[in-house]
Amino acid sequence: MHKGFVLWFTGLSGAGKSTLADALVLEFRQRGYKVELLDGDEVRTNLSKGLGFSKEDRDTNIRRIGYVARLLARNGAIAITAAISPYTAIRDENRAATLADGAGFIEVYAEASLDALVARDVKGLYKKALAGEIAYFTGVSDPYEAPENPEIRCKTDTDTPEQSVAQILAYLTANGWIG
Ligand code: ADX
Repeated sequence: MHKGFVLWFTGLSGAGKSTLADALVLEFRQRGYKVELLDGDEVRTNLSKGLGFSKEDRDTNIRRIGYVARLLARNGAIAITAAISPYTAIRDENRAATLADGAGFIEVYAEASLDALVARDVKGLYKKALAGEIAYFTGVSDPYEAPENPEIRCKTDTDTPEQSVAQILAYLTANGWIG
């Protein structure tokens, strides 16, 4: 059995975390790996139902996602997470706990300029946030601490999803995480 790992996406809303995560789930399944996805929007409808977007609630949300992800990874599965996870300290806390459990932790930064996200605005949230209708919106009126040394940095405002998926698979193959 291969060693399990957490593939931890971080990035602003609309940067493509879920798109890349969904594509990778299919890819890993096709290759016969056990894989689970903890997607931010979905987690907030069950595991983290009731939590808001204060720093305290986000930290609780990210700790929960990290906890479930490492339970899966230490049993040999691939756990993909796709939440904004704006704070470096909690991401690093999850990394340390996962490594202590003997699983791998690979951080993927879905990097896109705010300008590109505002222009795309898939969910229409940036427009509202910029108009002051959503308080504490990440990247607009709430902090986003970009990772300084992510294992993988995907330029999602210029590269296609196919290119980013290929980049991630190449990294995982080159580093022996997948065959
Ligand atoms: S996190 O900060 O706790 O990691 P999470 O990924 O779960 O965030 O949820 C982010 C999603 O919630 C966004 O993609 C967006 O659809 C929605 N959302 C609603 N309010 C906010 C807000 N104030 N800041 C960021 N995202 C928000």
